[in-house]
Amino acid sequence: TWTPGNVIAEQVAAIRAQVGDARVICGLSGGVDSSVAAALVQKAVGDQLTCVFVDHGLLRAGEAEQVEQDFVAATGVDLRVVDAADRFLDALAGVTDPETKRKIIGREFIRVFEQAAREIVAEAGGDEVRFLVQGTLYPDVVESGGGEGAANIKSHHNVGGLPDDLQFELVEPLRTLFKDEVRAVGLELGVPEAIVWRQPFPGPGLGIRIIGEVTADRLETLRAADAIAREELTAAGLDRDIWQCPVVLLADVRSVGVQGDGRTYGHPVVLRPVSSEDAMTADWSRVPYDVLARISNRITNSVPEVNRVVLDVTSKPPGTIEWE
Ligand code: XMP
Repeated sequence: TWTPGNVIAEQVAAIRAQVGDARVICGLSGGVDSSVAAALVQKAVGDQLTCVFVDHGLLRAGEAEQVEQDFVAATGVDLRVVDAADRFLDALAGVTDPETKRKIIGREFIRVFEQAAREIVAEAGGDEVRFLVQGTLYPDVVESGGGEGAANIKSHHNVGGLPDDLQFELVEPLRTLFKDEVRAVGLELGVPEAIVWRQPFPGPGLGIRIIGEVTADRLETLRAADAIAREELTAAGLDRDIWQCPVVLLADVRSVGVQGDGRTYGHPVVLRPVSSEDAMTADWSRVPYDVLARISNRITNSVPEVNRVVLDVTSKPPGTIEWE
């Protein structure tokens, strides 16, 4: 019979058999898959595991703390946090094209992770077998043709983007599981509920939710607006009805408003709440008007750069979920 406890027992045995007494590295993103994969490996081999969390500065309010404090407290993993926010901002300076942003963020991410991995391998003495944990799920395995690993990853030898002299064998303890099963396993392992039930959030983070150049000030503005929207949606009990709700800052658009003592010339934010089964298609969520009103009032009252809140009522297709 399928129980989270049985899956954990099986995977713990399989992980121990695969890695022996070698070092294992895991990149944490703050999402459910990498967190549950890391928690499983931690249970199996404890201090042979080192987790790396690259803080690219494009996270939402409180997300880095959730990993650095809550996840570590719940699982006891050895975590290295690399604060790379300045590096990402520098690399993104002047860039407005969505695909260019994605490429830059992906490239910098690999570089920072590679550097951290090299340090860990060197500290461990260099030439032993190295294992890398990936939170690949069953649907990823099927989608990539039933073969090896998830999209953009070459299993069992090297991981897309990492150089040839930094070879890893993959550990993929979630390969047989669906998302709801991963959540059940995560809860059983004591992973914090805020992580287990986290809605999807894109790897490039807020970098693709600022339409225009990404700057520190704009990130701060978007973070403030996003935190309010999330707070109100949670308070209204809508987290499990809504697949995700991107908040998008139209940084290159200005409109006239009246706020406080007078005329403002600020920016709009877009609310993009969607319902979906798998993100391939989506519908815009019919969020109650009073919830939308509270979000709008709070944002325009407390985020000075934002003087307009608009709602995206486009399904996917034709609109994608994210704006970039
Ligand atoms: P779109 O915008 O294509 O998004 O409708 C579909 C789902 O994928 C997420 N998304 C990403 N996730 N890296 C990720 O890890 C990315 O580059 C990325 N782009 C989009 C998006 O949030 C939605 O859940």
